[in-house]
Amino acid sequence: MPQIDRERLAVLIRRERATYAREHPRSRELFGSAGHLFGGVPMTWMGKWSGGFPLCLAGAHGNRITDVDGHEYRDFALGDTGAMAGHSPAATVAAVARRYGELGGATTMLPTAEAEEVAAQLTARFGLPQWSFTLSATDANRWAIRLARLVTGRSKVLTFAYCYHGSVDEAFAVPGPDGAVSRSGNVGAPVPLDRTTRVAEFNDLAGVERQLQHGDVAVILTEPALTNIGIVLPEPGFLEGLRELATRYGALLLIDETHTFSAGWGGATRAWGLQPDLFVIGKSIGGGIPCGAYGLSDDVVGRIAAHPEADLVDVGGVGGTLAGNPLSVAAMRATLCDVLTEQAFDGMIARATRYTEGITRAIEEVGLPWSVARLGARAECRFTAPAPRTGTESAAAADDDLDEYLHLHLLDRGILLTPFHNMALMSPDTTDDDVDRHVAAFTEAVDELVAVRTAA
Ligand SMILES: Cc1ncc(COP(=O)(O)O)c(C=O)c1O
Repeated sequence: MPQIDRERLAVLIRRERATYAREHPRSRELFGSAGHLFGGVPMTWMGKWSGGFPLCLAGAHGNRITDVDGHEYRDFALGDTGAMAGHSPAATVAAVARRYGELGGATTMLPTAEAEEVAAQLTARFGLPQWSFTLSATDANRWAIRLARLVTGRSKVLTFAYCYHGSVDEAFAVPGPDGAVSRSGNVGAPVPLDRTTRVAEFNDLAGVERQLQHGDVAVILTEPALTNIGIVLPEPGFLEGLRELATRYGALLLIDETHTFSAGWGGATRAWGLQPDLFVIGKSIGGGIPCGAYGLSDDVVGRIAAHPEADLVDVGGVGGTLAGNPLSVAAMRATLCDVLTEQAFDGMIARATRYTEGITRAIEEVGLPWSVARLGARAECRFTAPAPRTGTESAAAADDDLDEYLHLHLLDRGILLTPFHNMALMSPDTTDDDVDRHVAAFTEAVDELVAVRTAA
């Protein structure tokens, strides 16, 4: 089995960095002159791109992005899922233009007729009968957690090590010797994590039960598969076990499908028959227009009604001025009803399957000890095999140098991969040819890494 030659890797990274810098003078110049932007970018995460400076965007349509240096990319990052529907899909553009321009009223604090249509569409897909809208998945998680605390009268959130649910304070936890401790890098945590959080390992039902036995967990917050530390898939019976344990110990189950919506038209919830009490989604459902949503079961709605003291219509901590605004609602209606259709998912999943087979073949041919996981329309490789079972195992396989090399190698060949680990996501516009080019570039990257074929 080949080992990664670190010196060789460093040489390859230097080569790709040099190409990147040479080919992107305008992006580099704009980054260098952005003296009023904290970190040189409009949002600090945009500093994560490999190569020392980010591409500066010129425009994007479908699965193509162009930069200010005139390059075109086949986009597999898709805004880290925000653009899973493709960039500026025609139906969403038309709906947004109509609401913002023709009709007017982007933000009014008044409902529009199509809001019910969006909620009904979410019910058809994910099953929960009642919905409320937000501006981000982070907010949807925060507000759903507050409602869970209200109805259970308990304080804590049970999360999984190395999960990510947006900037939700309670979720930046990993297991420590005496309970939850902060993940490294957690910025300005309001209180020590053991005050708010119980933490377990994904795929470890016994560990979950030990945490629930404390009797203070209001809600288990999880993705159906972890997607922010590579993809960690659930083992058979894990999600069913979680549902059963939540019920047995009086906690609610909150399923966050912001990323795992890639599993299909009704996300993993429909595909795997999950039964959440609370549900969160965001990012992709607005076709790029800020939005999010949380769903509530009938039981939770009934239990909320038993708390007339809870201020849901003013400053009680659930809601926001621009949440549920007519522009977001118009974007969600068009994106859900006209773009992310069942037929679109069939194509996206077929492309992701082709991609998974292609990169698996490339990895196997050179004998690298890596694994590939796919969840519907998204897939990625992790630098360990067999595939990790928990967030902690997956975190241990992180390799910043390998990430940088793969990202830059692909970028220099016209392929955009998400800056966060190696996720590749398919949009309705992604074609077999796009996938084949990605696989070809990936194959070249791993061949060079272990010096096969190219050494001859
Ligand atoms: C599973 C999950 N939930 C919630 C969020 C937060 O989304 P946003 O940053 O749009 O609020 C993310 C972001 O990556 C996520 O991966």
